[in-house]
Amino acid sequence: MRGFDAESVIELYQKYRDPLARVRDDQREFCRANQATMTPQLDDLEAEITYLLLREYRPATVVEIGTFHGWSTTWLLSALRDNGTGSLYSFDIKDNVVANVPDELAEERWTFTKGDIRHNLDALPEGVDHLFLDAAHNGWFARWYLTHLFPKVAEGTPVSVHDVFHGRRALPFTEGAAVLGWLARRGAGYFTASAAKDPTVHRELLLAKERLELADPVRSGRRNPMIFFPMPR
Ligand SMILES: C[S@@+](CC[C@H](N)C(=O)[O-])C[C@H]1O[C@@H](n2cnc3c(N)ncnc32)[C@H](O)[C@@H]1O
Repeated sequence: MRGFDAESVIELYQKYRDPLARVRDDQREFCRANQATMTPQLDDLEAEITYLLLREYRPATVVEIGTFHGWSTTWLLSALRDNGTGSLYSFDIKDNVVANVPDELAEERWTFTKGDIRHNLDALPEGVDHLFLDAAHNGWFARWYLTHLFPKVAEGTPVSVHDVFHGRRALPFTEGAAVLGWLARRGAGYFTASAAKDPTVHRELLLAKERLELADPVRSGRRNPMIFFPMPR
C-alpha cells in the first residue's frame, strides 16, 4: 500500500506538493493566530504524512480520537476539503477544539462529540475509512481500543497512532508497547518517520522535502513519534 514506506511517502510528497505547500502555509498562520489558545501536538512529518494519506485514499469517513486544541483536526479537515469529499468525526473529553476550528474548514464535513470515547462508540460512523488515534497514551487505554474499537475497522484501513516512538523503543506499559505487541502478534508491520526509531527514513524524508522546497518548518517539533499501518487481521 502506498504511504507505508519511505519511497512511496516521497512519491506522495511529489504528487501533492503544491496543495500541501498551501496547507503548510495555512497551518503556520493558524498556529500563529491562535497561539494564545492552541498548543499543537503533531510534528510536521507526521502531520504531512497524515494529510498525504487522506489525499491518496480519499476516505469517506475519518475518525479522530483526541483533538486537544485542534491541530490534528485542522490538518485532517484540510485534506478532506482539498479532496472535495469526506467527513471527519472527532472525539475528545474536552471541547476546546470547537472554538479553534475555522468555520470554513468545519462546514458540513465535521462532527465533534464531547466525552470519553469509551462511552461514545455508538457515535462512530457506519464505516471507518481512516482511524487517527492521539488520546491517552497508557497501556490500559490501548488495550481498550484494541479490543473494542479495532474490530470495527476493516482490514486494510489506514490507521495512525501517535506518541509511540519518542525513543528507539516504546516504554513498557505504554500505549505504544501495547499496539506494537498487538501488531507483532499478527506479523504486521508499520511505518514511522520517528527521528529516534528510524533516523535514516527521517533524514530521507527531510532531504526529499528540501528538494521540493518544503523544508521551512511549520512548527518546531522534530520527534515525529507516530506510527502508520494498514489495519491487519
Ligand atoms: C495529545 S492530545 C491530542 C493532540 C491533538 N491530536 C493535536 O494534534 O494537537 C490528547 C487528547 O486526547 C483526549 N483524550 C484522552 N483520553 C480520551 C478518551 N478516553 N476519550 C476521548 N478523548 C480522550 C484528551 O482530552 C486530549 O485532548
